[in-house]
Amino acid sequence: MSSGASSLASTGTSSLASTVAGTVAQPNYDWQGFGFEIRQVHAGDYPDLNNGLRVPPIALSTGYVFDDFDDQVERFAGQPARPTGAGAFFGEAEATPSPIYSRQGNPTNAVAEARLASLEGGTAAVAVSSGQAAISSALFALAQHGDHIVSTASIYGGTRILFGRSFKRFGIDVDYVWNIDDDDEWQQLIRPETKAIYTETIPNPRNDVVDLRRVVEVAKRYHLPVIVDNTVGTPALIRPIEHGVNIVVHSTTKFLSGHGASVGGAIVDGGNFDWEAAERAGRSYPLITKAPRPGLASMLDRFGDAAYARATREAVVNDIGPSLSPLNGFLLHQGMETLSLRMDRHVASSIAIARWLERQPEVVSVDYAGLPSNALYDIAARDYGVDADGFGRTGSVFGLTVRGGIDGARAFVNGLRLFSRMTGIGDTRSMVLHPLTSTHATFAAEVNERLGISPGLLRLTLGLESVNDLIADLRGALDRVAALERSL
Ligand SMILES: Cc1ncc(COP(=O)(O)O)c(C=O)c1O
Repeated sequence: MSSGASSLASTGTSSLASTVAGTVAQPNYDWQGFGFEIRQVHAGDYPDLNNGLRVPPIALSTGYVFDDFDDQVERFAGQPARPTGAGAFFGEAEATPSPIYSRQGNPTNAVAEARLASLEGGTAAVAVSSGQAAISSALFALAQHGDHIVSTASIYGGTRILFGRSFKRFGIDVDYVWNIDDDDEWQQLIRPETKAIYTETIPNPRNDVVDLRRVVEVAKRYHLPVIVDNTVGTPALIRPIEHGVNIVVHSTTKFLSGHGASVGGAIVDGGNFDWEAAERAGRSYPLITKAPRPGLASMLDRFGDAAYARATREAVVNDIGPSLSPLNGFLLHQGMETLSLRMDRHVASSIAIARWLERQPEVVSVDYAGLPSNALYDIAARDYGVDADGFGRTGSVFGLTVRGGIDGARAFVNGLRLFSRMTGIGDTRSMVLHPLTSTHATFAAEVNERLGISPGLLRLTLGLESVNDLIADLRGALDRVAALERSL
């Protein structure tokens, strides 16, 4: 007989030994308590009993079949899924009804949602169609016409535009706090109608990291949930919920999907906000704490520490409709499998290049909080950790100011051959953008001045290319800046 499994089975082993050897251990699907690198690959995965697919497939179906007439009635009535019911994949609580339609949820996206919730340390996540959809949906679940939000001042330009235009039109005002250490400033801004504090971990574009502990401390004082955009940080570098933040939003378009191919977003519920205490203190969150209709208990009663996520899914995303395509959901859950590996590389390159840039004569300043010369270095080192040489690991989106103002910036951008001139961050490819004439073009001059968005400022986002090649490209562009200066 030839070698192989069948020959091993017939070598005269005892029946006990063959029973032991033949007993198949069940694959694990509960990854709670496992390390980050295990969870980024496995969390959210499920056994495919039909075909044995190892990679969770792309479930292209607009809806879900009802078992029978009564099942349809139960699902529309928000009844918990039947024990044998199809499609109970949301996994937020036993009270979860079976799905109806893919605008509300999809098995492919559910893998991404469970994986991201696990990586961020939240109770549940909701995937949506873009980062902007995530920010809007996250806040619409908390605030309505007449309500108010306080945001830190240094945030992504698109979010500032969203707040100043669409939120304003919908009757939700946003005010900005400029100095988070100033108690008086908070006190002047926070009103009875304030429903949330909004911030970013590593603000785009200037890498001016926010002291989350301080923001959380203020929010607790006023019984407000803190929402943080962790797009630039990613859970591989910082997990805001561990710092007391309540809700995390992402543009998954960026590092989480990681390859510049698909637009998406997500909202993660930290499960750590006391909605009832906030109500007692006079801040009401009706989508979470009130019965949505007669005969159905509140989200809080039905979904407990995942009530906010469920309310966002049911009462905002399902109504307004920014659902994620399962194709993009697939790219997201697959992208997350390599998140920490990519982030290590992004960060190592950024530290090396920020250090190199600081030494170049054509460079006025480098905004990378992980550099010891940066005013925010202590927060960077404390919250993001340091590399072997003591540099803080504050991501790979940062600012660089070249000499010569806007003409210097033009010479620099036009001189790049490897960096792509485009908007976007968190790609495998390195990119450059001039914020003043793009993301910040519509803001008043004094706002840009206060934010440090100067004519010579460029936003770099470093990809996964080799540092030497990136430096060679940057050197060529800086030579243009030097040549421009000589020509004047
Ligand atoms: C920090 C941050 N948040 C949100 C967004 C918006 O994300 P999206 O483009 O996926 O809508 C971006 C986009 O650049 C961003 O950089």
